[in-house]
Formats: sequence, structure tokens, C-alpha cells
Amino acid sequence: MAKRQVYMDHNATTPLHPEVKKVMIKALEDFGNPSSLHAFGRHTRKLVEEARENVATFLGAKAEEIIFVGSGTEANNTVLSIFACPSKKCNFHGKAAAEIVTTSIEHPCILEAAKCLEDRGFKVLYLSVDRYGKVNIEQLKDMMKDNVGLVSVMMANNEIGTIQDVKTIADIVHKKGVLFHTDAVQAVGKIPINVRDLDVDFLTLSAHKIYGPKGIGALYIKKGIPFCPLIRGGHQEQGRRAGTENTLGIIGLGEAVQMREKEMKEEEKRLLKFKAVLRKGIEDNIKDISFNGHPTDCLASTLNVSFEGAEGEAILLYLDLEGIAVSTGSACASGSLDPSHVLLATGISAERAHGSIRFSMGRENTMQDVEYVIDKLPEVIRRIRGMSTAYTKKVRKQ
Ligand SMILES: Cc1ncc(COP(=O)(O)O)c(C=O)c1O
Repeated sequence: MAKRQVYMDHNATTPLHPEVKKVMIKALEDFGNPSSLHAFGRHTRKLVEEARENVATFLGAKAEEIIFVGSGTEANNTVLSIFACPSKKCNFHGKAAAEIVTTSIEHPCILEAAKCLEDRGFKVLYLSVDRYGKVNIEQLKDMMKDNVGLVSVMMANNEIGTIQDVKTIADIVHKKGVLFHTDAVQAVGKIPINVRDLDVDFLTLSAHKIYGPKGIGALYIKKGIPFCPLIRGGHQEQGRRAGTENTLGIIGLGEAVQMREKEMKEEEKRLLKFKAVLRKGIEDNIKDISFNGHPTDCLASTLNVSFEGAEGEAILLYLDLEGIAVSTGSACASGSLDPSHVLLATGISAERAHGSIRFSMGRENTMQDVEYVIDKLPEVIRRIRGMSTAYTKKVRKQ
């Protein structure tokens, strides 16, 4: 009999929603270039604009405030690159705003883009977080000096699931007349988001985290906010992102947000229950563990656990042998042996960070999946710890 397959790595990526798949298969026939004026082009244009309307409605925005981009990574790079635009035509050119504030727990696509700005002479200030991953609000207030041009704080963290108080942060930033961006890749489709209520200037989302296709994302740009494209060329996306549109991806994203609208609320309730059972199952059956991330302000889907005396990579591989897919940190960081920058920022030791696993559940998981993990995990940890001389010595001493 085929072994049970349990996918609990939804923060890395999600399977296509069956409805998204259906719509995309149909759209494979719609090959017209949306910039073409003939009937083929006009038909595809209509589908693209419907998808834009869907994304806008989902976020409480206007359609003209949404541009489609190649990924969450591209959207984030676009926002940060505005500040380094060499073009004299750019609204930002020559502005005194030479400082950017972000956090120490952002996704690498923000941190690497920020590092690049630092190399180009910009000053980047990094907000610290508390042990649960919450941004230090007092430090933010102190950092809001005249030279700051942009503050970028992620809405929900991909590794530990902690959700930031984005509205409070946006208010502080706007009181100083500074622009505010939030990377909402992990939050969109999981918690309710209204860009007007939150009062953000830029917001990033990515389709493949919400049961849509890979290689397509969107950026919300509040009407009237100065902007400058990262990718230049044709006049697509009202001159804000050049390149023939990924029409298939856009159509998939448009359907994915509609499905989220329908399913999100009930799903989050279900996942909260699963998470509570998983957490208790781990606590009751495995000793020397600790949980990372905020106990309540946290994505319902995400549970990050540290296991003393067990390497995260070993746990991942043993669980994989049991048909269980989890992650040791962000997918982009795997392959590197460095401990997670997010976990280190919360103040835990490198050793504890190394022994951490992220479970991220999603729409197709069941309680049987959770029970299967609780059944297999204790034995996996026992075997790995049995190979650790340091851990077995410690246990023997007790
Ligand atoms: C918080 C966050 N931001 C940005 C990204 C990048 O999105 P994409 O995979 O669409 O480039 C990810 C992907 O893991 C993410 O988790």
C-alpha cells in the first residue's frame, strides 16, 4: 500500500486549487496578447482585467491600484528599488530620503534588496523583534527621523507565523509623512486584509502561496503614491511593469483570490483546531521542546518547534521517509547550513535554531494528517537524539 503522504509545507508553496486548475486549463486556449487591439487581444485583456478586479476587491483596493508582477520577490524588489532610481524623471530622484527602515526578520528578498541599497550608499535601519517575533514599536518611533523615506515591515512571518500590528505601524510611519510597505505574501488569503483600513501604501502578494500558480504576484500601489518601475520596456501595466503579461498566471491568481474569499474563514478555524492538537500532541509526547512564534498573533497554519538534541535537517529527512513534508526554515534558506536569521532575531541560541522544524498546514490537510504526524514524530526524534552523544549524556545525568 502506498505510504500516506502528508504535506505540511504550505508556507513554501501550495498545491493548485482544483478550481484554479480548471480555469487555467481553459485559459491555455486564450493566447491573444492583451496589448493587441484585435478580438484575440481584447478577449485576453478582458480576462486579465477581470483578474485585476478580483485581486483589488479581495484587498479592498481599486483595480488601477493593482499591478501584476513575476513574483512576491519582484514586488518587494520593485518597492525598494524606487529609492535608488537613477532616472531624473522619477518622482523620487534627488529626494533627501536616504534611509530605509525594515526588520531583521524579513524574507531574504527584502533583506538582500536592502543590502544592495546599502552597497549603493543608502542607510538601512533594522528593527529588532521580541522573543515572539513582534516588532519593537518604541524602536520604530525612535527610528522615524527626517531622512527616512520608506518603512517596510512584513505582515506575517514565513518561518514562525507571527503577525505584526500593521495598522499601528502604518499610523506611526504616516504621522511622519513616510511611505509604508508591507510584504503580505504569507498573510494574504489567511487573515482578512483591507488596504484602506490598514492604510498601507504598498502591499505585496504572491499567487503560489494561496493555491494559485507559481511565477505570478501582485503589488498594490495606493493611488497617487510616487512610483517608478523596476522593469522597463513596453507600456504594460499602465507603464508600471514592462513585459508581455503572464496571462495564464494572472487568470490563475484571479481565480485563487476568489476561492480564498469563499474558503478562508472556515479554513482558518479548522487549521486553528489542527494546530492546537498538533501542539498538544508534541508537548505530551516529546520532552525538551519549545515553540517559536507568537502564541496568539500567529498564522493558524504555522507551528514552529525546536527539538533539543536533534538537527532540523535530520528531522526533515526522517519525516520525509514517513511521507511527511515539513521545512526547517524558509524554503529559500534551505540548502544553507546557517541557522535561521528569523529564529536568531527572536533571541534563541544557534543550537536551538538548528533543531527547529516548521509545520505549515493548508486547505487539504485533515485531522488524520495531524494524528499521523503525532504518531510518527516521537519515534523520529527518539532515533535522532539516540545518535547525539551530547544529548544522551545530558539525559543520563538527569
Ligand atoms: C514573506 C515572503 N515574502 C516573499 C516571498 C517571495 O515570494 P515568491 O516566491 O513569489 O517570490 C516569500 C516566499 O517564500 C515569503 O514567504
